[in-house]
Amino acid sequence: MEQLLKQIEDHKKEISAFTAADEKQVEEFRIKYLGTKGLMKSIMGEMKNVAVENKKEAGQLLNDFKVFVEEKYNELKESTVNGQQSTANSIDLSLPGDNLPIGSRHPVVLMRNRIVSIFQRLGFAVAEGPEIEDDWHNFGALNLPEHHPARDMQDTFYIQQNPDWVLRTHTSNVQIREMEKGKLPIRMIMPGRVYRNETVSARSHCFFHQVEGLYIDEHVSFADLKQTLYFFVKEMYGKDVKVRFRPSYFPFTEPSAEMDVSCFICGGSGCNICKKTGWVEILGCGMVHPNVLTNCNIDPAKYTGFAFGMGIERPAMLKYGINDIRLFSENDVRFLKQFTSAI
Ligand code: PHE
Repeated sequence: MEQLLKQIEDHKKEISAFTAADEKQVEEFRIKYLGTKGLMKSIMGEMKNVAVENKKEAGQLLNDFKVFVEEKYNELKESTVNGQQSTANSIDLSLPGDNLPIGSRHPVVLMRNRIVSIFQRLGFAVAEGPEIEDDWHNFGALNLPEHHPARDMQDTFYIQQNPDWVLRTHTSNVQIREMEKGKLPIRMIMPGRVYRNETVSARSHCFFHQVEGLYIDEHVSFADLKQTLYFFVKEMYGKDVKVRFRPSYFPFTEPSAEMDVSCFICGGSGCNICKKTGWVEILGCGMVHPNVLTNCNIDPAKYTGFAFGMGIERPAMLKYGINDIRLFSENDVRFLKQFTSAI
């Protein structure tokens, strides 16, 4: 009798601890404890070894044990629905929740948003265009006919299946796509990713980002271009920053210029960033070439306009003190999570 009691206690402990993740395990439980060759059967067989005077008590004990095992079986059955463990019994609602890490914006996105929002305040609308572009929109319409030497200024990735397609080398393709729509005036800011077949190093990458600007209307002059960019620079780098324009060449603008700002790292006295010149180049710009307007069915006798294009990575590197452009595309969370400002 003593022994039987002890046995039952031990089995109860084992059974209480039993868990089943799916219906298969519930069935294993049934076979092990309630099956025709299971524990219940063999322990019932112990009755014959119990002394006559204890039979009644032992019978009661075994019956209780049987109820206990059956209850456990039903419980296991209920808790596995469609082969999955129900969470109803396993969630402890009193436990404190996990802290989900807050994401952060990519530094290129932060810089893009800053640039775009300054032009939005001047009434520029945002537009985007395709990264896989045909030759006409990336080159031809921008006054870069086939075999034009200026095509070599930008090392192009061509798409193997169709040599007429390229990965756009600049966001200027979006200028064409907007002008083609034929709705004037145009006042657009066009951010996006561009590709150039360049060796990847700390200073240059085979893809990076630009923001393009385009303003077409009657009587738009170079003075409007300068004033717009002055406003941008003051908003972006502060009111004390000096600006200078250098004559330059782009096939799609005439006249063309590059704009420098006084080095915002050393204040113009000369440092590594500005290569001791005191100036940092930030964008290319100019008056939209009449051929480009004609290519887009806009009458250059009636309309004029200006365009500009600037990189995003370089100003972001300067602002955040990043010394390797490859960090932007490696997706190392330790790098990315450092940028937390709101826009
Ligand atoms: N597309 C030129 C570049 O990628 C920049 C530019 C845009 C220059 C618009 C003038 C006008 O270098």
